[in-house]
Amino acid sequence: MTILVTGGAGFIGANFVLDWMAEVGTLIVNLDKLTYAGNLRNLASLETDTRHVFTRGDIGDPEFVTALLREHTPRAIVHFAAESHVDRSIHGPEDFIDTNIVGTFRLLEAARGYWQSLPAKEQAAFRFLHVSTDEVYGSLGPEDPAFSETSGYAPNSPYSASKAASDHLVRAYFHTYGLPVITSNCSNNYGPFQFPEKLIPLMILHGMTGKPLPIYGDGLNVRDWLYVGDHCAALRRVLAKGRPGEVYNIGGRSEMTNLDLIGTLCALLDELHPQSPVTPHEKLITFVEDRPGHDRRYAIDAAKIEHELGWQPSETFASGLRRTVAWYLDNPQWITEVTSGQYRNWIDTNYGQRVTS
Ligand code: NAD
Ligand code: TYD
Repeated sequence: MTILVTGGAGFIGANFVLDWMAEVGTLIVNLDKLTYAGNLRNLASLETDTRHVFTRGDIGDPEFVTALLREHTPRAIVHFAAESHVDRSIHGPEDFIDTNIVGTFRLLEAARGYWQSLPAKEQAAFRFLHVSTDEVYGSLGPEDPAFSETSGYAPNSPYSASKAASDHLVRAYFHTYGLPVITSNCSNNYGPFQFPEKLIPLMILHGMTGKPLPIYGDGLNVRDWLYVGDHCAALRRVLAKGRPGEVYNIGGRSEMTNLDLIGTLCALLDELHPQSPVTPHEKLITFVEDRPGHDRRYAIDAAKIEHELGWQPSETFASGLRRTVAWYLDNPQWITEVTSGQYRNWIDTNYGQRVTS
C-alpha cells in the first residue's frame, strides 16, 4: 500500500505527507531534492515514524528513480516536485524547464517502465497523480467564467508554461501508453510551511517585523485561495476515486483582489500581533513596480470534483487565514531557519530594483 511522493519536503508536499499520516497512515516514500524550497524541518514530527521513508534525490535521475520504484513497489506516485515560484521563473527560467518539464518527463518514463513490469492486477490499480496549477489556463477578464477542466491552455509565465508542458506530457502518457494518470489543477494555496517568497507568508513576516508590504502594480489582481489542508484532502479523494485520464480542477471559490487580501491580513495581525513595530499594519502597504506579464485574474470552477468525488473545502478564507497567521506567530524558529542568507539574496534580487510608487 506504499505511495511514492515527490517534492514531499516542500510546502504542499509536506502538508500532504502529514495529512496522509493522520488520515490514512500507510507507508510513504518521500523523494525530494531539497532545493531552497525543500525543508526537512517541515517533517520533524515524523522523525522517528517508520511509516515515512525520506530519500534525497532528483526526479530527473532515471536510474535513481527506477531503483527506488523497484525497491519500494508503490501503488501510486503523487507528483508535487517542481520549481513553483513565478517571480523566480522570471529571473531564471532554466531550472523550471529542467525540473518541471524534463524532470516530469523522466519521472513518467521511470513510472511507465515500472508500471509495465507489474502484474495485471497491480497495473490496473496503479495511479500517477500529477499535481498542477490553474495558472496553465492563463489570465481571466473580470466577467469571464471561472476555469473549468475544458478551458484552453494559455500559460503566460515561464513557470506556468513549464507546468503546462508537464500537463501535456502526462496526458500523452495516458493516451499513448495507457499509464493510469490523473491531473489536478489547483488554485493558489496558503497555510503552514509555505516558503516566505509567496504572497501570504511574505506579508505575514513583513507585517510582524515592521517591513513594507510590497503590492505589485495596482493590487487589483485577483487570485482564488484555498487552504492547503483542503487541497490535501482533495488529492486524497482524487487518488482514491478519480478516474484515470481525467483532470480535476480544485479551488475554494474564494476569489479576491490582492489589496482586499492584504487588508484582511493587516486587520488579523492588528488583532493577533499588536506588539509589531508598526501598527496598524495597513500603514506598511507599499505599491511597487508590477511583475512583468502579471496575470490579472484566476478563478476555478470546482463543480466536477464537488459533484463527481463529493469534495468540498472545510475552511473558509477567514478561518484558514487565521490558522495560518497563528501558525507563523507560533513558529519563530522555523521562520529564522528559512530566512537565511540565501533568502535575503532573493529578497534583494526581487524587490531591490522595483520602483516604489
Ligand atoms: P514548493 O516550491 O514549496 O516545493 C517544491 C518541492 O519540490 C521542494 O521540496 C523541492 O525541494 C522539491 N524539488 C524541486 N525540484 C526537484 C527535483 N528536481 N527533484 C526532486 N524534488 C524537487 O512547491 P509547492 O508550493 O509545495 O507546490 C507543489 C506542487 O503543487 C508544484 O508542482 C506546484 O506547481 C503545484 N501547485 C502549487 C500551488 C501553490 O499555491 N503553491 C498551487 C497549485 C499547484
Ligand atoms: P504568489 O504568491 O507569487 O502566487 P502566484 O503569482 O503564483 O499567483 O502571488 C500571488 C499574488 O500576489 C500575485 O498576483 C502577485 C502578488 N504579489 C504581490 O503583490 N507582492 C508580492 O511581494 C508577491 C510575492 C506577490
